[in-house]
Parts: sequence; structure tokens; C-alpha cells
Amino acid sequence: MATSNYLVLLLIFSCFCRYGNLQRLHEKIYSSIEGGAACFRRLNGTHQTGCSSGDNGAVGVVHMIKEMSDVQWLLQNATAGPYMVILSTHYFSDVIEKILEKPEIIAGILLHDNATGSSASFSQESKCPNEYSSAYGSSCSSTSPVGITWNDKGTGLLRRDIPFPIFYLPISRSLEIDKIDQCYKRYNVIDQANQKGRPLCSVQLHSFMFAAVDTEVCLRRSTSTTLLTPTKVCDPLGDHNIYYSLFPRTKDNKNKEVTLVTARIDAASLFDGVAPGAASSVVGMVTFLTAAAALSQMIPVKNASSYGQNVLWTLFNGEAFDYIGSQRVAYDIKMGAWPPAAPLSVLDIRLHVEVGQIGGALSRFDNTWPLYAFTPYIGDIPAIAEFLNIFGSNLRPNKTISPDYSSNIPPSSLHSFRRIFRNETESGALPEVLLTDFKATFSNMFYNSALDDYDNIDFKYRNITIDNKGTFIPTDTLVANGTFKEVDSQVKIARLATTLARTLYHKVAGKEYTGNVSVSAHLVDEMLYCFLKSQACRLIQAAEYASSGTEEKPPERPAPLYVGVAAWASTAPVFAGHLLALLTGTPLPVNRTECYDMSVPGFSQYYLKGWDHNGVCIQTTMNMSAAISPAFTIPNYNMKSGEYSTWTESVWQTMWARMFVASSGVGARVAAVCGALATLLAGLLTYWLQKHAARIFIDAPAQSIVNDDAASGILRTVNC
Ligand SMILES: *[C@@H]1O[C@H](CO)[C@@H](O)[C@H](O)[C@H]1NC(C)=O
Ligand SMILES: *[C@@H]1O[C@H](CO)[C@@H](O)[C@H](O)[C@H]1NC(C)=O
Ligand SMILES: *[C@@H]1O[C@H](CO)[C@@H](O)[C@H](O)[C@H]1NC(C)=O
Ligand SMILES: *[C@@H]1O[C@H](CO)[C@@H](O)[C@H](O)[C@H]1NC(C)=O
Ligand SMILES: *[C@@H]1O[C@H](CO)[C@@H](O)[C@H](O)[C@H]1NC(C)=O
Ligand SMILES: *[C@@H]1O[C@H](CO)[C@@H](O)[C@H](O)[C@H]1NC(C)=O
Ligand SMILES: *[C@@H]1O[C@H](CO)[C@@H](O)[C@H](O)[C@H]1NC(C)=O
Ligand SMILES: *[C@@H]1O[C@H](CO)[C@@H](O)[C@H](O)[C@H]1NC(C)=O
Ligand SMILES: *[C@@H]1O[C@H](CO)[C@@H](O)[C@H](O)[C@H]1NC(C)=O
Ligand SMILES: *[C@@H]1O[C@H](CO)[C@@H](O)[C@H](O)[C@H]1NC(C)=O
Ligand SMILES: *[C@@H]1O[C@H](CO)[C@@H](O)[C@H](O)[C@H]1NC(C)=O
Repeated sequence: MATSNYLVLLLIFSCFCRYGNLQRLHEKIYSSIEGGAACFRRLNGTHQTGCSSGDNGAVGVVHMIKEMSDVQWLLQNATAGPYMVILSTHYFSDVIEKILEKPEIIAGILLHDNATGSSASFSQESKCPNEYSSAYGSSCSSTSPVGITWNDKGTGLLRRDIPFPIFYLPISRSLEIDKIDQCYKRYNVIDQANQKGRPLCSVQLHSFMFAAVDTEVCLRRSTSTTLLTPTKVCDPLGDHNIYYSLFPRTKDNKNKEVTLVTARIDAASLFDGVAPGAASSVVGMVTFLTAAAALSQMIPVKNASSYGQNVLWTLFNGEAFDYIGSQRVAYDIKMGAWPPAAPLSVLDIRLHVEVGQIGGALSRFDNTWPLYAFTPYIGDIPAIAEFLNIFGSNLRPNKTISPDYSSNIPPSSLHSFRRIFRNETESGALPEVLLTDFKATFSNMFYNSALDDYDNIDFKYRNITIDNKGTFIPTDTLVANGTFKEVDSQVKIARLATTLARTLYHKVAGKEYTGNVSVSAHLVDEMLYCFLKSQACRLIQAAEYASSGTEEKPPERPAPLYVGVAAWASTAPVFAGHLLALLTGTPLPVNRTECYDMSVPGFSQYYLKGWDHNGVCIQTTMNMSAAISPAFTIPNYNMKSGEYSTWTESVWQTMWARMFVASSGVGARVAAVCGALATLLAGLLTYWLQKHAARIFIDAPAQSIVNDDAASGILRTVNC
């Protein structure tokens, strides 16, 4: 026994020594590329989309695209492939199709944001986003583009199966590109015609995805267990919807008719953790949140009994992936199950107003921020005519809203309602309006992309302090003293939100609003900062739970708006819900214990930090509901039917990228042959040891040593 123990120890020791050496050697050879975000795989009922590397990553010879002729060379003259294409966002749209036609010579793409020249358009979404979930009357087609294609600049990559990995490096990581460029110039550029057989600068991308084929297959694999260990390969996409009503809704209150006002929370992009969504969703969401806050000041909740109508504000999540959130809400309303505490009937909805995509035209440096109202009816629907009239009269001079009566409406949650309540929407019993800042194709050239950030809406943070009572300086005061100009995005958004709040006041109260409540550009400024630049912002700090211990500061970057997987709540909807509670709720003068012990029908209480950070009990009607597609809750749902969203996201273990100089072909082949021989030898030795174990290890129980788990593990790692 003793001898065998020594032998095992010796093996462990030698293995560690060799590992240490290898580690140092490894650092010399490889240089890791930090801060990249990888394209990953999603699946729907019938297809897989996105990217995956092989099990061991994808390796390719660096080829940098600095001008279009580099693409020509790659496609016609390159000999040492496969290649890793280093490409800037400037050329991406022009190059990607050409590369996709020759996947056999491409190992992958490392995409980087061009520091000197931004691209004029960049969108990996389909030309017709959510094409396969759109309602009757839609005519947008990405395969035969005649007529309007909403996202005209879209490459559709987000919805395609890409045969190689793609990583994205933001501008803040441009040093990594410089590093690759140096290596590239040193090894690859000289004598480019004779690359084959020389040591070449190479890059390896690792983003292996466990799921494949489609949602049905991956869910089946996820539920099966191999040898007692559950294997999970994909998760359904989903998160939470946020809703809030102006007045509490209980089963037996009188103002049960509602105006449903909606917007979306989420955005998307091809890359993990990068979904800034500024013009795609944030501007709409901020308009929505600030209008809700203003309306709650115009009509105090305690006066609820004087009004016959209510306003139900709802933020949908997961809209980028076949309208997950709105499909679920419409489906639940149909089932008589939403909102859970006091279900709504579809005929209680007297008007549905969606604040759609309105950020794309904000970066124009003039006062015109066009506004369009899509209404999918030909005949006159009184509720809509009335809404547009009041809305128009509340707009500032020089600004108009142009109605567009067409059943071909842009991507929006209206599609979900029109599919699920076809009878009611077609007849006009459920009147619908969609507000956008484009009439035909999107004014946003960066729809659902990594570049849809604060620059895209020309946002410059003003950083004005908020007093400890939470008062915001009125827009007119700030414009008068020169902090803002009329053309600033914050002012434009504040004006639009004020118009929306006043219009809803008129609708609920039945008369024009004469008070002085309006949305402050100061509030808009802070809110845009929270969603677009940093979670460590004044509003989110005030809207956080007041916890007793010391908690860590939120990170100084925006929360990604990608919907994520349904397994856990992501930060963006939680922030939106808390902001809604803080800005619209009623502060109560009670301590934490009393706050959570309270039980008032139709309300819930949250103990938040508050403006003075001392803790405040907020009574609110805000609540959250699941934004998970009905496809995953209906038993035996047919995933191929295309009725509801079926998107799932693959599980992966690690994503990394590194650069190294690959030795010339000859050396590599010699190394490979030696490696193979060594492995063979080790195998033979193992076999021999097993056979003759009793002879070598005198005390050892015959045959057992190499079958023992630990020992065989060590023997297997000998050739590491
Ligand atoms: C690439 O090959 C073509 C012929 O196939 C040749 O005409 C051209 O000059 C080559 N380009 C470069 C940059 O070597
Ligand atoms: C960056 O963009 C400019 C145009 O604005 C272009 O000339 C340049 O080649 C781009 N750089 C890279 C590395 O693609
Ligand atoms: C709310 O109700 C109170 C008393 O009923 C009344 O004095 C006040 O004017 C009302 N406020 C609004 C905004 O309707
Ligand atoms: C309205 O437009 C006119 C001419 O286009 C301009 O002179 C005027 O200043 C504008 N008014 C406002 C409030 O922007
Ligand atoms: C929709 O209308 C058609 C014809 O009017 C009717 O047959 C059908 O039952 C209605 N569907 C629902 C769900 O009410
Ligand atoms: C905002 O102003 C505060 C001081 O009032 C300062 O500490 C902070 O760094 C500023 N933030 C930004 C983003 O400029
Ligand atoms: C304008 O007023 C705000 C709030 O009173 C103040 O913070 C800001 O410094 C003022 N700006 C100028 C240019 O006077
Ligand atoms: C609105 O009017 C009230 C009283 O009428 C006044 O106390 C308040 O300061 C005004 N608010 C603004 C923003 O002008
Ligand atoms: C909260 O207030 C109640 C009544 O005012 C008091 O009995 C209770 O001790 C307070 N709780 C805390 C934690 O201060
Ligand atoms: C919030 O939703 C839960 C169920 O999702 C429900 O039990 C609760 O009553 C709701 N609260 C309010 C104030 O609507
Ligand atoms: C899945 O996505 C593909 C590609 O976008 C599309 O062609 C197909 O119709 C989708 N399938 C379902 C069931 O939605």
C-alpha cells in the first residue's frame, strides 16, 4: 500500500510541476482579449439563430479589414485560412453578406466600434421586426421587400443561424484592437501573398453553445437526465411586465373602464450584455414613466371616487422577441386572469394608446420632432378621433400629430392584441393608437443594436441636483436660464410627456386641464441618465429598497435591456417598477414594520430609500406580472404552430477571446504527431500497468489501482 501511495503522490507532484511550467509558457504565448461580448444562440419553435464556436473555440489567422480591398483579398487571394476577420462597425453591413457566402474560409469575426468614424446605420434586426408575430393587415415582408420595410437598414442577422462566432469590442476596448493590429503588421502583412507555412498572428474565440436545433428539441434535452445529473441546455426568454393604475382597481370599484397606456422596456442586440436600446425603447419608456408621474399629480389618488374612468399603465418586457410580454398580457386578459387581483375584460378597455418607438428622430438639431399616430381603422372611431383632437390641442405651437389610417402598422404590442382579440380590434370595439416618430421606415438607424446608445438620441447629461423633497425644477425655468434649449432631447421628451398626461387628464376628468403640473426636463434628464449611462444615479438610489445593512453601490454603467431568461428578474424592469412607485405613489408617515403590516385593498406598500435616503413608505398600485410566453404555460403547446413566442436562449459555460502567434504549419504538424505518439505511449503504459499492477505494487489489491476513480483521473491527466 505504501509504495502505491508514494507513486500516486509522485504523479500528482510531477503533474503540478508541469502544470506550473505550462501556465507560464501559456502566458507567453497567449494574450487574452478582454471586454468582448459574444453573439450567442437563441432558438424558436422551428429554428436556431445566432452563433456558436466549436467545443474548443474557433481559431483563425488574423485578417484586418481596413478598406474594402482587404475584403477582396480575403475572398479571392487568401491562402492560409480559415481567417479571423477583424472588422469595424463602419464596414460591417457592407461586408457581412459577402463573408457569409464563404463560411468555409472564415473562422469568426471580431467586430469593434470604429473610434474615428461612426457608421450611418447599424442594425442586425430583421427588416420587418417580429414579422412572424404580426397581425392581420401587416404587409411588411423581409423576404420580398416591396412597399414599406420598417427597419430598412436591418441585416436580419439577429434572426439567422450564423456559422461562426462573432465577438464585439466596444470603443472603450480599442487598445485590444491596437494590440492585434501590431501583431498583424508584424507577422501577417509582410509578404501577404505567401502566408502559408509562416508563423501568423491568430485569434481564438470561444463561445460554445449547448443548445441546438430548436426550442422543442432543447427543452426535451433539458428535461432528460443523464446519469442522475440534470442537463439544462436552454431556458425560455422572459421576465416581468410592470403595471400601475391611476386609481386602485379592486373587484368591485366603479371606475372599471380603463384607458390602457403601454410602452416597452426591452431592447436587443446580437451580443451578450449589450442592449442599450436608447431610441428603440428608452425614450418611449421615459416618456411613459414621466407622463404617469405627471398624471398622478394632476389627479390625486384620494379623489378616485369622483371619477368614472381609470388609466392602466403597462410596460411590456420581451417585446423584441415576438412580443413576449404583450402576448402574455393579452392572453391572460382573454383567460380572465389579468391583472390577477382584479381581472380586466377586453371591453373594459375603452382605448389602447401605445407609446411606440419615438427616439430615432431626436438627434436632429432642430425643433421638429415629428409625431405620427397609427390607427388601424378606415372608418371613424369616436374614441380615437377624440383622443387625437385633444392630443393635438395640447401640443405646443408648431407641432402637429399626423394620423395614419392604415392596417399596416409598425412593430408594436398592438399586434399581440390584434391577433388575440381579432374580433374586438377589427370592429373597433377595442380602439387602438400607436405613437411613433416615423411614418414609413424607422427614423432610428440603429434599431435593436449595440450602437443604439445615448449618442443616438443626442443626450448630454446636465447633472442638476435634486433636493431632499424630490422636487424637480420646471422645464420653463431651466430653458429660461439657459440650462436647456428647446431643441434638447430632454425638453422635447418632457413636452411630449406633458401633452400625453394632459390628454389623459382630459379623458378621465372630461374637461381641459388648467393646472400648472407639467413634466420637468430635469426629471427626464435624470431618468435618461439612469437608463443610458449609469445605474449609480440619483433616481435609482432614491427608488431602491431601504435596507438596513450597508449595500454595495450599483455599477456605473446602464443596466442591459435585453429581456434575458425567465429564471430570474433582471434589473431594468425592477428599476422601472420602483421608479413608477416612487414617482406616482403616496408617501405614508409610518416606519418599516408598520409599512409592511399594512393591508389596503388595491394597494401594496414598498419601503424605499426616498429622496432624503432616510426611508419612506410608499403606497402604490404598481405591481409586476410574468412576461413569459403562453407557449411555455399552455400544456402540450405545439411549438411549431407560430401562435405565440417560442424563444429560448442556449446555456453556455464561458466566453473568451485570445490572441497568439500560431507556429508555422510544419512545426505544428510535428508537434501534433509527437503529441499523438505521446498519448499512444501513455495509453499503452496505462494498459500495461493495469495488467501488471499486482507485480509492481506489492501490497496493492490486484487489478484495482487504475480502476480507482482518483487514480485513474491522475493517470489520465499525465499527458496534460
Ligand atoms: C488577387 O488575385 C487576382 C487573380 O486571382 C489578381 O489579379 C490580383 O492581383 C490579386 N490581388 C492581390 C492583392 O494580390
Ligand atoms: C472608421 O471609419 C472611417 C470613416 O468614418 C473609415 O475611413 C475608417 O476606415 C474606419 N476604420 C476602420 C478600422 O474600419
Ligand atoms: C380632490 O378632492 C378634494 C376634496 O374632495 C377637492 O378639494 C380637490 O379640489 C380635489 N382635487 C382635484 C385635483 O380634483
Ligand atoms: C414656429 O415656427 C415659426 C416659423 O417656422 C418660428 O418663427 C417660430 O419661432 C416657431 N415657434 C416656436 C414656439 O417654436
Ligand atoms: C368572432 O366573430 C365571428 C363572426 O362574427 C364569430 O363567429 C366568432 O365566434 C367570434 N369570436 C369570438 C372569440 O368572439
Ligand atoms: C454630478 O455632479 C456631482 C456633484 O454635484 C459630481 O460628484 C458627479 O461626479 C457629477 N456626475 C457626472 C456624471 O458628471
Ligand atoms: C439654472 O437654474 C438651475 C436651478 O435653479 C441651476 O442649477 C443652474 O445652475 C442655473 N443655470 C444657469 C446657467 O444659471
Ligand atoms: C403651481 O401652482 C401652485 C399653486 O397654485 C404653486 O404653489 C406651485 O409652485 C406652482 N408650480 C409650478 C411648477 O409653477
Ligand atoms: C414602528 O412604529 C410603531 C408605532 O408607532 C412602534 O410600535 C414600533 O416599535 C416601530 N417600529 C420600529 C422598528 O421602530
Ligand atoms: C399584485 O399581484 C399579486 C399577484 O401577482 C396579487 O396577489 C396582489 O394582490 C397584487 N397587488 C396589487 C396591489 O394589485
Ligand atoms: C423562427 O425563426 C425563423 C427565422 O427568423 C422563422 O423563419 C420561423 O418562422 C420562426 N418560427 C416560429 C415558430 O416562430
